[in-house]
Amino acid sequence: MREYRENAPAKINLALHVTGRREDGYHLLDTLVTFADRGDVITVRDADQDALTLSGPFSHLLEAETLQNNLVLKARDDLRETLKIRGITTRPVAIHLEKNLPIASGIGGGSADAAATLRALLKLWNADLPAPNLQAMALRLGADVPMCLRSIPLRATGIGDAVLPLPTLPRFGMILGNPLKTVSTPSIFKALTRRDYPPIGPLPSTSNQNDWLKALGDMRNDLEPVARQLCPEIAALAQLISDTGAELTRMSGSGATCFGLYQTLEKAEKAVDTLQAIKPEWYFQAVHSVSEV
Ligand code: C5P
Repeated sequence: MREYRENAPAKINLALHVTGRREDGYHLLDTLVTFADRGDVITVRDADQDALTLSGPFSHLLEAETLQNNLVLKARDDLRETLKIRGITTRPVAIHLEKNLPIASGIGGGSADAAATLRALLKLWNADLPAPNLQAMALRLGADVPMCLRSIPLRATGIGDAVLPLPTLPRFGMILGNPLKTVSTPSIFKALTRRDYPPIGPLPSTSNQNDWLKALGDMRNDLEPVARQLCPEIAALAQLISDTGAELTRMSGSGATCFGLYQTLEKAEKAVDTLQAIKPEWYFQAVHSVSEV
């Protein structure tokens, strides 16, 4: 029985500037993104009929009703349809989603799951798609799915879909913290009062961690003030993370997840111990961000 396993790493917006809005309501962004060395996990294998099973600490939050709209299933169906048009028939597949990331939390869990599903199914079905077609399919699934297909340090513009690799972005020890309050992305974008913030300024040309920390310190997440109003726990969370001595504390995506940056993974792990003791009911996870190689 053939089986393929693909990681669906957490996406972290180190900075997210809202630079405009398109006619269709989607926002133009300038964002620096890195990925964690862990996240959800997708496993696919040949089966007699299609199935989706779940495990992991946050799987219970994907109830049966929302499961029908799950991006994993949309990714499977879209890919199957596209391959069919190209004359490639696909067998039924059993998909397993290990849901380790909090739901609706600004770290792209659903998008990462969809991207990992596409990668895994292309292997299982022994199929290939030209890169532009795959990118277009990813974008139809969600604005963040193209960047999740790459899962490398990057800068993205457009609505988040124009992806430029950023090989000089160094690795950081990081913590991800979430007050386990889900935040609706459309409601955050809708509540913005300004949509013409300046883009990200010049970036360091080397991988020096201090240079990057300084540059990142001058950047923003333009969704954070709005998210803090709609979800008051974010301010408390960010303060707690900052108090552990993080080099930088900021919200990711449309929240509510906040991250802290540290020079090393060890420092991040210590911070998680401290934070988990203060707020045992919240989610804290130490991660190492990825490097391009
Ligand atoms: O593309 P995705 O389904 O992930 O986006 C969810 C919602 O977030 C969109 O319906 C839109 O309201 C908002 N959004 C936006 N601008 C973006 C990305 C998302 O306004 N660049």
